[in-house]
Amino acid sequence: MKIRIFVSVLIVAVVGTIFLLKSNDNGGSVMADTQKINSNKKVLIAYFSTRYFDDITAKFADTLAKATGADLFEIKPAKPYTIADLDLTNKKSRSSVEMADINSRPKIANKVVDMNKYDVIFVGFPIWRDREPSIIDTFMESYDFSGKQVVPFSISAGSGMIHVMSSSCCYVVFITSGSSGMGKSGSIMQKLAPKAKVDSGNRFLSSSVSENDLKSWASKWL
Ligand SMILES: Cc1cc2nc3c(=O)[nH]c(=O)nc-3n(C[C@H](O)[C@H](O)[C@H](O)COP(=O)(O)O)c2cc1C
Repeated sequence: MKIRIFVSVLIVAVVGTIFLLKSNDNGGSVMADTQKINSNKKVLIAYFSTRYFDDITAKFADTLAKATGADLFEIKPAKPYTIADLDLTNKKSRSSVEMADINSRPKIANKVVDMNKYDVIFVGFPIWRDREPSIIDTFMESYDFSGKQVVPFSISAGSGMIHVMSSSCCYVVFITSGSSGMGKSGSIMQKLAPKAKVDSGNRFLSSSVSENDLKSWASKWL
């Protein structure tokens, strides 16, 4: 059996660690004091997660929903991503092709039942090639976000943490999003939904932020 070994650039881990130490993102170190959310605003947490990496984004979105009392919506790709699709080292992999094309719009399988009723929408995703995955662009163009507050967020499971994935044909080594911040995600999403108010968002440096800290962070928009 032919075995192919794909190794992501490990230097990114080192550079990422240095970047993180110097980063002024407030991820991970959100305000310590607990605040009660006392708001009539209707809140939705919409997120995309590959679910190949310990469900990082999914778990975080779940905690954020509990912290804010929000509804939860998982953005599911019409065609689920395989491990090979996520291969960063292959220029022809699905994710590489999609991310190289700013107009790529992978189809979404499901739909938010009534987007109209929400005032604030938190949109979570893994950072792919320094920005939001293309499927988030599809999401932003799928609804009328007029007058709504949109808050992007992303999570790093730990600086330079390495995940080794295997399938019948290959091994793929990934590094969690420690090297990149939110990049231009917020401004790209704002262009796609010009009538919304899109925040630049936040990259959290740890997936183990407490409900109280998330309450405190989210209260700015609630
Ligand atoms: C196609 C692809 C591109 C990625 N690009 C970046 C990147 O530019 N910067 C970064 O810090 N992490 C990057 N990562 C790592 C992901 O952000 C990381 O796997 C994410 O935390 C996983 O979240 P999930 O389990 O919710 O999918 C990339 C991962 C994939 C699969």
